Parts: sequence; C-alpha cells; structure tokens
Amino acid sequence: MKKILITRRLLKVSEEKASKIFDANINANDELYSQSKLIELSQGCDAILTSLTEKMDEDTINKLPDTIKVISNFAVGFGNIDLEAAKKRGIAVTNTPDVLTDATAEIAMLLILGATRRAPEGIEHAKNSDWKWSADFLIGKQLTGARLGILGMGRIGRAVAKLSRPFGMEIHYHNRSKLTPELEEGATYHENIKSLFSVSDILAINCPATKETVNIINKKTLEYFPTGAIITNSARGDMIDDEAMLDALDRRKIYAVGLDVYKGEPNLNSGYLKHKSAFILPHLGSSTKQTRTAMGDLAVDNIEEFFKTGNCKNKVN
Ligand code: GLV
Repeated sequence: MKKILITRRLLKVSEEKASKIFDANINANDELYSQSKLIELSQGCDAILTSLTEKMDEDTINKLPDTIKVISNFAVGFGNIDLEAAKKRGIAVTNTPDVLTDATAEIAMLLILGATRRAPEGIEHAKNSDWKWSADFLIGKQLTGARLGILGMGRIGRAVAKLSRPFGMEIHYHNRSKLTPELEEGATYHENIKSLFSVSDILAINCPATKETVNIINKKTLEYFPTGAIITNSARGDMIDDEAMLDALDRRKIYAVGLDVYKGEPNLNSGYLKHKSAFILPHLGSSTKQTRTAMGDLAVDNIEEFFKTGNCKNKVN
C-alpha cells in the first residue's frame, strides 16, 4: 500500500476514501505544518496531498525525501508549488480542475452582485437597525446592459460569462489566445488588457497567478478603466496591487471591489476591512459540499492514477 501525507483536513468522506486506498497520514488537528514538520512527516511517503496553504517552494521541494513521486494539490490553482523544482526532482504535480468551475463562478457572481449593489453598507445598516426606506437609499449600479470584462477566459471565466448573460451583461474578454466562436459564445475578444479594461464597467479576474499576472491591476492599469468601474477577484490575490486599489477606491475612480482572495491570506490588507466599498469574503470560491467532496475525490484519484499508470491527466508540470 502506498503511503501518503495529507497536509490539511479534508471533508470526512474524502479522508475515508484516501484511507481505503492508501496508508494515509491525516492531519487530525488541521494544524498548519511548518516546513520542517512537513519534511519530517513526509519521510517514507510516496505522495503528498497538499492544500493552497502549503508553500511548496524550491527549498521545501529540494528537502523532500526521494520517495515522494507526486504532489497532489487540492485546488485548481498551483501557485503555491514550484513546478520546475518539482520536475527537476522527478515529482509530478497535479491539480483539481473542472470540478470547482461552477462553485467558483457562483462566488464570482456573488462578488459582482455584492459590489454593485453596495452589500457591505447594506449589511451594516441592516444589522445596526439604522435605516429607513427612502427612494435614494443606497443606490447601487445595475447589471443590465453593463459591460463585463473577463480577464482569463478559461473554464471558470467561461462559466462566469454563462451566468452573466441572463443578467443582460455584454461580455468582453482577454485571454492568452482568442477562443473559437463556439467557446466565445458572442463575447468580444481584446488583444491586450488596456483594451479590455477600457470597456469594463465590471471586471471579473479569473486568470491564473503567474509571474506575468502579479500586480496586473496596478496604479497605471487602474487608469485604463472607465471612472466608476467595479473590480472583482475570485482567482488569486497576487493579481492586485492593494495600495493602488485602495487609493483608486478613495478617489472614486473605482466604485467598489468584490474580493474573495488576497495577497498574504488570511492577513488581507487592513484597508479593505474598513472600506465601505469593499465587499470581501474569506476565500470561499470552491466551498460547497458537493465541490469540496469532488475536489477531495479527484485529489485522491490523481495520486491513484499516477501510481497505476505512471501518469495523470491532471498533471501540470
Ligand atoms: C481555490 O482557490 C483553488 O485554486 O482551487
């Protein structure tokens, strides 16, 4: 029986599945392992099932025992893992695409709705019983007819487009390459971010975090947007220069933000905590029972597939 280390608690059903197939070391207290603890616990293991909270950088990967052949990430994103360092050591890295597309797109819609309709202010007023109806109370922005810019038109970006069409939004996108007409479904392609941002009344960030996309929303690129635009991010926090964003919110260049992900999670920039125009969630993108169960299943299946066949369709390095 192959031996695996599972670095964070999964849903019970996933841990049970893993324990049936593997000799699985489960993190009963769901503690965040230090690098040295992770290395120590991985001794004698064949695979590690990681979550996005584990920083599998070059140094950590180089210290893993030779027995480790797979790192199976419980996430579609894999910015927490140095793919090249893993490859050099002959370690396959896998992720969990597809199964979380719908749940993440739903959170993107929640961010769009919460930011456009001033949900943070509304919640505050309602909780404090500090409101009375009036014709001009907390007037927000409407989605009907708004131009939605989607940055990254992969599986999740396309699912956001699909959910947005019934709201009457006009879909624009930028992607590394133009999609086929079947996948575009009428969305307008923009060759560069300047062109996309300049028509985005609302932006939904859905691209992967890479060296090229770090701080793609910054002091300069914020000026490309129409004044009063709304920016939402359900991908990774690395994409936004937070100080520039907070400044743009203060100047009302940007009307509101909807954020589910942050640089340095869970310690987000404190400016967002106080800002009335920041609709913020604690990284809930894939957090539904059916999706987290499917992700756990897939993360376990990826390891099994690798050991059975020597490869895995969800290998990313
Ligand atoms: C969640 O953030 C994921 O990448 O799966």
